Amino acid sequence: MRDPEFWHNKWAENQLGFHLDDVNPLLVKYWPNTKPDYQDKVFVPLCGKSEDLVWLAAKHGDVQGVELSNIAVRAFFAEHFYTPMVMPINGQHELFQFDELSIYTGDLFTAPIKPVDIVYDRASLVALPPEMRVDYANRIKSLLNPGGRILLVSLDYPQHEMAGPPFSVAEQEIHALYPEFKITKLYRDEANDNHPKIANKGLSRFAEEVYLLESN
Ligand SMILES: C[S@@+](CC[C@H](N)C(=O)[O-])C[C@H]1O[C@@H](n2cnc3c(N)ncnc32)[C@H](O)[C@@H]1O
Repeated sequence: MRDPEFWHNKWAENQLGFHLDDVNPLLVKYWPNTKPDYQDKVFVPLCGKSEDLVWLAAKHGDVQGVELSNIAVRAFFAEHFYTPMVMPINGQHELFQFDELSIYTGDLFTAPIKPVDIVYDRASLVALPPEMRVDYANRIKSLLNPGGRILLVSLDYPQHEMAGPPFSVAEQEIHALYPEFKITKLYRDEANDNHPKIANKGLSRFAEEVYLLESN
């Protein structure tokens, strides 16, 4: 696993700038583009303690997540007053299971995720440095059933103006990472001058984008 300490420290110090208190409105708006069926199995890589897990579990019978930090996973269940079953798995992971939700602690690359139909990637691909992204995309592809879809929320800004994470992963790189997918850009929101990334961090431009990736 690469650079786990960075993330463990973030959780230990409660530095959670990426965490949203509510369900991501982009998920609510664009999930229908994945043509979701209740039976479709869903995977949320690098899930943190996202409220999006709760929203997805209301719409699907089987939602898996994986998150490096034990603190994050425990906080997720405690904050929702859910009492999960906790099962150790081969010394490297724990599975927290509650109704439709199965959340694994530990590394995405070794967690025993079962194949899924739809992946929801928000603040996951863009959390990883360039040298990890090919392995990450290959791991995601290996977990997708035929006909699988990915809803991807990405960021586009001049990388040299700010050190990630979050990193900029622009359209061209998404095509390079997922060449065998049909890729549709569903949304691009160009930040205005009042956006914190421009007003405080001094970026010259910053955009949030949503993509639908469909495998054949
Ligand atoms: C930017 S956060 C995003 C969390 C969540 N997707 C959200 O939208 O709130 C990235 C998360 O990925 C986790 N992470 C980083 N590398 C990981 C890995 N190799 N396996 C599993 N989780 C990882 C970190 O602990 C962190 O919580």
